[in-house]
Order: sequence, then C-alpha cells, then structure tokens
Amino acid sequence: MKAQLINTAMILSVLAINLSCSDKSGTTPIPVPEPSTEQAPSQPVSAAEPAVAPNTSGNPSLTLIERADCLACHKIDAKLIGPSYQDVAAKYTEKDIDQLAQKIIDGGKGNWGDIPMTPHEGLSKDDAQQMVKYILSLKK
Ligand code: HEC
Repeated sequence: MKAQLINTAMILSVLAINLSCSDKSGTTPIPVPEPSTEQAPSQPVSAAEPAVAPNTSGNPSLTLIERADCLACHKIDAKLIGPSYQDVAAKYTEKDIDQLAQKIIDGGKGNWGDIPMTPHEGLSKDDAQQMVKYILSLKK
C-alpha cells in the first residue's frame, strides 16, 4: 500500500514537473510578438533623445553641456551629485536664467543640499545662459 502511495506521489510530482515545464515551454513560443520588439526600442529611443541624441541633434546648448564637466554631476532625469536637470527645470522659470547662469560660474550650494557645485570660472555668461535655457527646456 505504502509503495503504491509513494508511486502515485512520484507520478503526480513528475506530472507536475511536466506540466510546469510544458507551461513554460508553452509560453516561450507563444510570445510571437516580434513586432513588439520592433516597437519597444522605438519608444525608449525617443524618450531618451535629450540624453542620447546630443551630438547628432546639433543642439548647441546641449553640446556646451556635454563639453563641460556638467554631466559628471548631473543627469537629465536622475539625481547624481547634483539635482537632475528635470528637477532644476521644475523649480525655476525663465526669470531665473541670469541667476542660475551666475551660479554655474560661481559654484555654490544651499539650494539643493550641502554638496557644492564646483565653480566654472572659464565659462562665459553667454554660454552659461545657453546651458540654463537648455536645462529649463527639459521641464516636463
Ligand atoms: C562637482 C559636481 C558638479 C558639476 C561638475 C556641475 N554641477 Fe551643477 N550642481 C551641482 C550641485 C551639487 C548642485 C546643487 C547646488 C545647491 O544645492 O545649491 C548643482 C546645481 C546646479 C544648478 C541649479 C542651481 C541652483 O541654484 O538651483 C544648475 C542650473 C546646474 N547645477 C547646472 C550645471 C551646469 C550647466 C554644469 C556644467 C557647466 C554643472 N552644473 C556642473 C554639482 C555639479
């Protein structure tokens, strides 16, 4: 009797394994949607355009930011050492361009925390303003 029970249990578990296997192998071929893999990249690519397209975009303001050291501390959409540019854009408006440009040149801390931004003394006010305008354009 006992042996039979064990056998049944074994058969059942073998069945269960088979079932779960066939479940998996059943779902693997079914996701036929190769078209969805064609669609998927096209979405992230367009979403990431500000971050990825810089050199090809021909956006001079973004090129300025790329050539400077900004991206060592700032990301477009995530806090790094400094705030994300989208957060900066959300906090300020056009009328802050001058003040922000000066802040980039002078460096400083206090608006986002205790970590200071390094000064960028070599940067012209014009270029700094260009950068700020670009950053503000990232407003969501
Ligand atoms: C060493 C890291 C570092 C570098 C390099 C850096 N930043 Fe920053 N940035 C910061 C930090 C930290 C803050 C937050 C300062 C604060 O709390 O007031 C900041 C803040 C800012 C702000 C918002 C200022 C404010 O008062 O709210 C702007 C705009 C900005 N950075 C732009 C730039 C640009 C453009 C460059 C490149 C020229 C640059 N940053 C390079 C670290 C950096």
